[in-house]
Amino acid sequence: MAKHTVVTMPGDGIGNQVLPEALRVLKAVEFDAEYVHAEIGWDCWCREGNALPQRTVDLLSEHKLGLFGAITSKPKKEAEAELRPELRGKGYSYFSPIVTMRQKFNLDTCIRPCISFPGNPLNFIRKKTNGGFEEPFVNVVVFRQNTEGLYAGVEWTNPPETVRAALAAHPKFKPFVSTPGPDLAVSVRIITRQAARKICRAAFEWAKKYGYKSVTICEKPNVLRETSGMMEEEAKAVARDYPGIALRSTNIDAQTMWLTKNPEDYGVVVASNLFGDVISDAFAGLIGGLGFAASGNIGDEVAVFEPTHGSAPKYAELDPPIVNPIAMFLSAAMMLDHVGEKEKARRIRDAIAAVVKEGRVRTYDMMRIPGGANAIRQGAASTIEMTDAILGKIESREFVYAGVGRERV
Ligand code: NAI
Ligand code: MG
Repeated sequence: MAKHTVVTMPGDGIGNQVLPEALRVLKAVEFDAEYVHAEIGWDCWCREGNALPQRTVDLLSEHKLGLFGAITSKPKKEAEAELRPELRGKGYSYFSPIVTMRQKFNLDTCIRPCISFPGNPLNFIRKKTNGGFEEPFVNVVVFRQNTEGLYAGVEWTNPPETVRAALAAHPKFKPFVSTPGPDLAVSVRIITRQAARKICRAAFEWAKKYGYKSVTICEKPNVLRETSGMMEEEAKAVARDYPGIALRSTNIDAQTMWLTKNPEDYGVVVASNLFGDVISDAFAGLIGGLGFAASGNIGDEVAVFEPTHGSAPKYAELDPPIVNPIAMFLSAAMMLDHVGEKEKARRIRDAIAAVVKEGRVRTYDMMRIPGGANAIRQGAASTIEMTDAILGKIESREFVYAGVGRERV
């Protein structure tokens, strides 16, 4: 029997292109695992009215470890229109299965490393004041609270009377009291102290373990006094237990500006759900974008690893596939770390680093050319060629990555 069982959920679109390639990479590093395929995503919704079927939930409950590709989500009305005719008008409502999965299994800690690979042509560069350019080394890990905040799903258009009455009890609701129900949309931002404390502690623990000098709490407590206020308060309380690590506090808006000015000032960054989603994409932009952005959704029992990109439907049908599988491979490496297979994870990252540094094999995004069938004719590597190049490095056990003396995550 294999040591690990991984529930594989390729999902939709390019999820089906990158996830199978990750299995080749995991095999190359001799990860002792068997894989159980599970359905998730748009087809499940259209067919069954549920994008996260119970059988998939059961497999995750049983095996506790998942590798996920990407799903397609569409707005409410489009989703209803694509539902199988027999199911329409029967009260089925679409909700993103990955958000549901995070909530169902309380995958409350989302970890999104944004660490530049030397030699990546997509790395952020900055103009020097005395002319010329420099390439700051970005080494940021975003901790995003993954189950609460504005993604908790407590929202209405045309809120019921009881909700309206409760809202009307707040003096700041006065300007909205006469807005007709159908013209009023409300999404509730819920933060619990327990979850705030937990994500802040996870961020500090990571900083301690991997030698980061600071944790930045990225919120907006001057305006969102209650919810961001609680996040900041808990960050301050947790920080007291980590005397060697500085706590910095930034506002989400200012942070999006500062990160391009001085990205090297940031180490671990912690934020609530929406802000963490936003700021992790912003940092990912500095290290190569969606083709390099990996993530882990970690709960007390279950953990699911996924690239942060979506299903990129416009490229899903291309043969050969053209998208960059590196984000998926880095997610698989995070999964290896999570189950204690650190050496295998390191081999994957070193192989990726070697291919990136060498610069001979590049997917279209790494060449800054438009995607599409033409990309291959212009010299871009296909998804499979990129995997092959990385497999080549794994097999040659050639470790050329000149790291910064710190274990990459
Ligand atoms: P997307 O991430 O699918 O793609 C945006 C663009 O980024 C693509 O058109 C492509 O140019 C580029 N891109 C994405 N992944 C890439 C890769 N691996 N290599 C090279 N280039 C890559 O986001 P979009 O277009 O906003 O959404 C498409 C669908 O995916 C939507 O239905 C959306 O709801 C869903 N989505 C799902 C996510 C998930 O499964 N976790 C996350 C984000 C979006
Ligand atoms: Mg996102």
